Amino acid sequence: MFENLPALAPDPILGLSTAFKKDTNPAKIDLGVGVYKDEHGNTPILKSIVEAQKQLMESETSKVYITPQGVPGFIDGMLGLILGKASPVLLSNRVAAVQAPGGCGALRILAELLKRCNPDTKVWVSDPTWANHIPLIGNAGLELASYPYFDKATASIKFDEMMSCLADVKKGDVVLLHGCCHNPTGADLTKEQWQQVAALANKVGFLPFIDVAYQGFGEGLDEDAYGLRLMAESVPEMIIAASCSKNFGLYRERVGLAVMITPNSANRDIVQSQIQYVARGIYSMPPSYGGALVDIILANKSLTHMWEGEVADMRERMIQLRKLLVDNLAAQGASKDFSFINQQKGMFSFLCIAPEQVQKLRNENSVYFVDSSRVNIAGINTKNVEVLAAAIAGVL
Ligand code: LMR
Repeated sequence: MFENLPALAPDPILGLSTAFKKDTNPAKIDLGVGVYKDEHGNTPILKSIVEAQKQLMESETSKVYITPQGVPGFIDGMLGLILGKASPVLLSNRVAAVQAPGGCGALRILAELLKRCNPDTKVWVSDPTWANHIPLIGNAGLELASYPYFDKATASIKFDEMMSCLADVKKGDVVLLHGCCHNPTGADLTKEQWQQVAALANKVGFLPFIDVAYQGFGEGLDEDAYGLRLMAESVPEMIIAASCSKNFGLYRERVGLAVMITPNSANRDIVQSQIQYVARGIYSMPPSYGGALVDIILANKSLTHMWEGEVADMRERMIQLRKLLVDNLAAQGASKDFSFINQQKGMFSFLCIAPEQVQKLRNENSVYFVDSSRVNIAGINTKNVEVLAAAIAGVL
């Protein structure tokens, strides 16, 4: 049975962690997988999560199955966080949702749902996009295509080219947009650009599919939801995959939410039944633990306040690290102007250098990041930044 299977290359992102662990150089630097790290290179459990864990330990009395939809308080809390508590689509009962195993689980079940709606659905993703979007959506059997997004030469969004491509997509095609903190480039649409994309979605009739995995890491929890909320209020139908891996630091607990905004309340119940059927056929129901923790935090004012402070601290630290990197690159006499890094948002930046230069940094300097030149800004700290900047300047 397995004899004819070829071995596959390591995952372009997760494979970096394995290679990094094997590297014996004590000065190695890990800017690969997108996880938040503190000054010491650790990814600690958030204090608000520790407190929620204590409360859950005392209040949980059974490990019986949760409902197929997930932890009810988690879903309500997350919908308020993403869409805004007073969102017109929530108030008009047009939102179906299920808890999912991570943002990946949400992306996959939404792709499966799209396939059930129309097997010929075409999904447009930004060029570039997060590497795992391709298998998560493509392996559901959907056709993928890309729209122009980022210009490496100018380190900026090719907005006009993106708009003219999206103006030509077919009614019913799906356009995947990153809600904030674009992965991998860190280049986000401005408010005015979101307004233009929302108007175009209505004009052309494409379905916006928003992936929001870094809410709070760009400008703020509400600020980062601007485009998503605007879109939700503008279009008749839309889908959202949300993740709690990063902003709640719940990576290994696999906590996400799949959201479907439907044209009316009657259709909402149909879509809710369909997405639960899809999930039942893949993993039956989501794991409870991480969703229960998020529920505890979002249902308690002082814990919510504590968590918001922790998200703000992570965000502010990454903004400072961007500046630190740019200043150190300039101090090392880098022959390229990297000041664009200060304009980018969230956890990632594209250094806009060639794959050969990335590989040279990995092989000769033990600096690990994705071949596309995406770096995890949170992997920088005051102890490694000078060595890092010198290494980058050295390969230019
Ligand atoms: C990343 O982009 O590095 C993270 O989202 C981790 C992953 O699964 O790829």
